[in-house]
Amino acid sequence: MAKEFSVSPYEVKGVVDYDRLIKQFGVEKITADMTKRIEKHAKSLHPMLRRKIFFAHRDMGWILDEFEKGNKFFLYTGRAPSGPMHIGHALPMLFTKWIQESFDVELWLQIPDEEKFLFKQDLSFEDAQEFLEDNLLDIIALGFDTKKTHILIDTKNSGIMYPEACKVAKKLTYSMVRSSFGFNEQTNVGSLFYTSMQAVPAFLPSVLSGKEIPCLIPHAIDQDPHFRLTRDILPKLGHYKPASIQCSFLPPLTGSDGKMSSSNEGTAIYLTDSPETVKNKINKYAFSGGRDTLEEHRKHGGNPDIDVSFQYLRYIFEPDDKKLAQIEKNYRAGKLLSGELKAIAIDKINSFLKEHKKNREKVKKDISKYIYK
Ligand code: TRP
Repeated sequence: MAKEFSVSPYEVKGVVDYDRLIKQFGVEKITADMTKRIEKHAKSLHPMLRRKIFFAHRDMGWILDEFEKGNKFFLYTGRAPSGPMHIGHALPMLFTKWIQESFDVELWLQIPDEEKFLFKQDLSFEDAQEFLEDNLLDIIALGFDTKKTHILIDTKNSGIMYPEACKVAKKLTYSMVRSSFGFNEQTNVGSLFYTSMQAVPAFLPSVLSGKEIPCLIPHAIDQDPHFRLTRDILPKLGHYKPASIQCSFLPPLTGSDGKMSSSNEGTAIYLTDSPETVKNKINKYAFSGGRDTLEEHRKHGGNPDIDVSFQYLRYIFEPDDKKLAQIEKNYRAGKLLSGELKAIAIDKINSFLKEHKKNREKVKKDISKYIYK
């Protein structure tokens, strides 16, 4: 029998079978043809596409059709502050940055600073605000183009967002959100309303410019229920349906079950972790695909598919395909030991984070330049 798993914006449980999820959600798999089309315009291919970490989409073909006619799209992505950001959060952001640069397009970035307050029992509004400041630094430090990036903070930019959210909310019924998110009679009304806010950046640039602009949303696949509803509603308001391109989840330290969680220390590597902390976390927690004894490992080899350190290299930290293939080969052959693989991952992650922390300091003075006024 197939194993149980579930994916929603508010919970990811079990080992996700992505092929089954594609069918469940009704998204399309990214084909080799689609990848070629993207490469043709981008002039290169991001490792996350080559490695099928971005693996599904809605209407990506339409985005490229329009692009070929000279009708540029804008990008939209986001992050709800609920804790410090971890390396899993950086994944769709880094990809978004690549699309922004390769296609030379505008990016609208939503920070719904009310979302996690509404959905999480134990998060106060004030605590979410503290994470907001810190998360903004992490996002901006990833290097988005100042001139082409516009950050919308829900509670600060509500003046332009709320009227549009109301238009969405009027078309969105209780039964639609209930079945998408598993809400019940006890769910607070803020949660019922929330998707209306997340829908707004998908068409706000069209409202502001007075002409329809195609929207492409790069996101982790758990956000799809919000955008499925958004796609139902927007044509009723005279707007395009947003397109999306979707990635799988960076595994938590503990293995392939669920996803990395910012509120669970033992599952996540934060973007602000010290080199020592990264080393300890990987050595102590990172699930290993190695064998129980050295002898067995040398004889039968390790399994990189379930090895978290290897997966971190594959997802983000070793962009060079040749180097990654060599590591994989040596690990499978038992030549590379689990501890040695961990050491490679620690080294790569720490050099990424060292650069990131420097950038966080540098961009402190620039935050206000990014926020929409
Ligand atoms: N709901 C997302 C989160 O929990 C935040 C978000 C808002 C988002 N708009 C988005 C994510 C658009 C991806 C794309 O972090």
